[in-house]
Amino acid sequence: MYTQLQLRDSARPPVTLTTLNKMRTAGEPIAALTCYDASFAVLLDEANVDVVLVGDSLGMVIQGHDTTVPVTVEDVVYHTRAVARGLHRPFLVADLPFMSYSSPEVALANSVRLMQEGGARMVKLESGAEQLRIVEFLAGHDIAVCAHLGLKPQSVHKTGGFRVQGRNADAAERILQDAKDLQQAGADIVLLECIPTALGKAVTEALEVPVIGIGAGPDTGGQIQVLYDILDITSGRKPRFVRNFMQGAGSPLAALQGYVGAVKSREYPASEHCFS
Ligand code: KIV
Repeated sequence: MYTQLQLRDSARPPVTLTTLNKMRTAGEPIAALTCYDASFAVLLDEANVDVVLVGDSLGMVIQGHDTTVPVTVEDVVYHTRAVARGLHRPFLVADLPFMSYSSPEVALANSVRLMQEGGARMVKLESGAEQLRIVEFLAGHDIAVCAHLGLKPQSVHKTGGFRVQGRNADAAERILQDAKDLQQAGADIVLLECIPTALGKAVTEALEVPVIGIGAGPDTGGQIQVLYDILDITSGRKPRFVRNFMQGAGSPLAALQGYVGAVKSREYPASEHCFS
C-alpha cells in the first residue's frame, strides 16, 4: 500500500505532474519517448526518460498499418499494461485512439480503462476547439490530460496527409489560441507536433503548463520521439525531425541515454530537424 508515496523518498522517485511543472519552471527540458512493451520500458527507465507515451503510433510501428486510425482502446490498454510493468520512474501517458473520445462520457469511460486496466497516469487526445468540453469534463473528474495540437495523425484522411501545420498566419493563430483555451479547460500538458519553430516557441511562452514538442523546434519545454524512429528500426523515409541515435551508440540503452542527454543539453533538435 502507498508504494508510490514510499518511493517518493527513494533515490529515483517516480516522475509526477509536479516534477514536470518544476522542470518547466527550472528550464530543464523534459525527455519523452513512446514505448509499447515491457522490455523497452525497462531500458527507457534505465536511460532516465522522464515521460513515456504509449502512443497510437503503435498502429504503424507495431501493427503495420499506414495510419493510426485502426488502433482500438483495447490495443492501447494491452500495450500500456505491458509498458507499466517495466517502468518505475517515468510518468506514463496513454493515447486515446481514434473515436474513443467522441463525447465527454465516452472519453471518460475510455480514460478510466487506460488508467485502471493499463496503469496510465495521464491520457492524451488529439485536440482543438471541438475537444474543449471533453478536456474540461476529464479535468473535472481529476483525470490528467495531455492535449495534442498541430499535426493530428488521427485526422489524416480528412486533412490530406502528414503535413507541417500552422505555416500561415491564420493557422498559427488558431493553434496558439487552441493551446491557450485547452490549458484554460484543464489540460496539464500540451504536445505540439510538426509545426514551425517560431510557433513552437510562441505557444511555449504563452502557456503555464509544460509543452512537449515533436518537430516543433528547440524552444519547447521538452521533446518526444517515436522510439522505433530514433533507434533506426523504422524503415523507409523518416520525418525531418528524426535523428538516428543508434549511430555510433553500440547498444539500444546507449542510444536512449544519448537521446536523453541530447534533449537535456538542447543539442537535439538541431536546425536540420526543425521546420520554418
Ligand atoms: O502516437 C504517438 O506516438 C504520438 C507521438 C507522435 C507524439 O502521438
